[in-house]
Amino acid sequence: MDRLLGDCSLDQLRRRRSMKWTEYPPDVLPAWVAEMDFSLPGPVKDAVRAALDRGDCGYPNAVGLGEAYAAFTRPRFGWEPAPGQVFAIPDVMTGVAEVLQEITPHGSAVVINPPVYPPFSFRLEMAGHRIETAPLRRDEAGRYHLDLAVVDAALARDGVAAYLLCSPHNPAGRVWSRDDLAGVAEVCARRGVALLVDEIHAPLALPGAQHIPFLSLDLPTDLARRTFTFTSASKGWNIPGLKCGVAVTGTAEAAAVLALRWEGLLASHLGVLATEAAFRDGADWLNAALAQLDENRTLLGTLLAQHLPTVGYRPPEASFLAWLDCRALGFADPAARFLEAGRIAVTSGSEFGAGGEGFVRLNIGTSPELVTEMVHRLARAAGPDGPISADDAQGVLFKTRDEL
Ligand SMILES: Cc1ncc(COP(=O)(O)O)c(C=O)c1O
Repeated sequence: MDRLLGDCSLDQLRRRRSMKWTEYPPDVLPAWVAEMDFSLPGPVKDAVRAALDRGDCGYPNAVGLGEAYAAFTRPRFGWEPAPGQVFAIPDVMTGVAEVLQEITPHGSAVVINPPVYPPFSFRLEMAGHRIETAPLRRDEAGRYHLDLAVVDAALARDGVAAYLLCSPHNPAGRVWSRDDLAGVAEVCARRGVALLVDEIHAPLALPGAQHIPFLSLDLPTDLARRTFTFTSASKGWNIPGLKCGVAVTGTAEAAAVLALRWEGLLASHLGVLATEAAFRDGADWLNAALAQLDENRTLLGTLLAQHLPTVGYRPPEASFLAWLDCRALGFADPAARFLEAGRIAVTSGSEFGAGGEGFVRLNIGTSPELVTEMVHRLARAAGPDGPISADDAQGVLFKTRDEL
């Protein structure tokens, strides 16, 4: 592994107090929630440490965020937002829920594309919205597609006021093409709905895929006025606990919506500082992470072919989340089986809504050694040998529960 990423030593990782490393007993290998195991980027650590040394833990000032974000998007995506249209938010889903509250009627419906990140439904339902679905289409090769006719039909339903697109898509791993996005713009313009685009995984577009920021498209003014995009350094540089996301408006006039929200919500001061450092100075670390994730997604394919040949897998085009079709294994709840018999925690596909049943999401944002360990545990749980125990733990890096 590149030295910038550290070595993902289990002793170190087990000392983390985050959700990923504390939710399950220590014999369980956690490969569920979207946190990576790499060491933090140096510029992020320096920014946070310097703030702590200054006693600088007050309320945030995000005036530099727009410039920092543009410094990242310019070379990477060939696009930069006007800094005055970029705002800090506490996190992506809070930004989405707040913007929807401002620009759509209370109780109106939002269209999403399951299987998709679970808070797209439950968080927006908490905020009083109804959810309408336009499921992704999965082809015979296991690749997911945005079906614009299905999206169009969903947008036409009663009470629909908005469309929430995940780009790149979690958990399908797709980086949408310019044609896909232009099609989305066309249906949203025609249906007159608000468009919210979650681009949180954009910094993690992997080799071979080019992420296209939605606001880099040439949008009709009417649609641009009701289009908002959301991203963060939290996935790309692995700092979700620092609580800062980024919201961008499609027009200068719409900035007032976010300016007011910024006053009301704020983000974490340390999060803003860390996010600016990541966007400005985090390219080397990000490139090392992308190279590692590229290697891991290939390694996962090789290992699955050897040890779990009936599990369906297409390497993700972005991010560190692998979506595995486990239906052929014949378990009612594959995630429960993997946890119980393999002592590995994955996310159950059914949490992602329609089309997720029988799938699991596996987090490969770690070392190749731990990816290998993951596949051994999945294979062990799926095979005839019964649950992992202290006696048959050969090749298993983790201590079993009995030894701890
Ligand atoms: C698609 C998507 N949106 C939003 C989030 C939430 O991110 P945050 O709370 O860091 O803003 C995640 C986290 O995994 C995600 O995958």
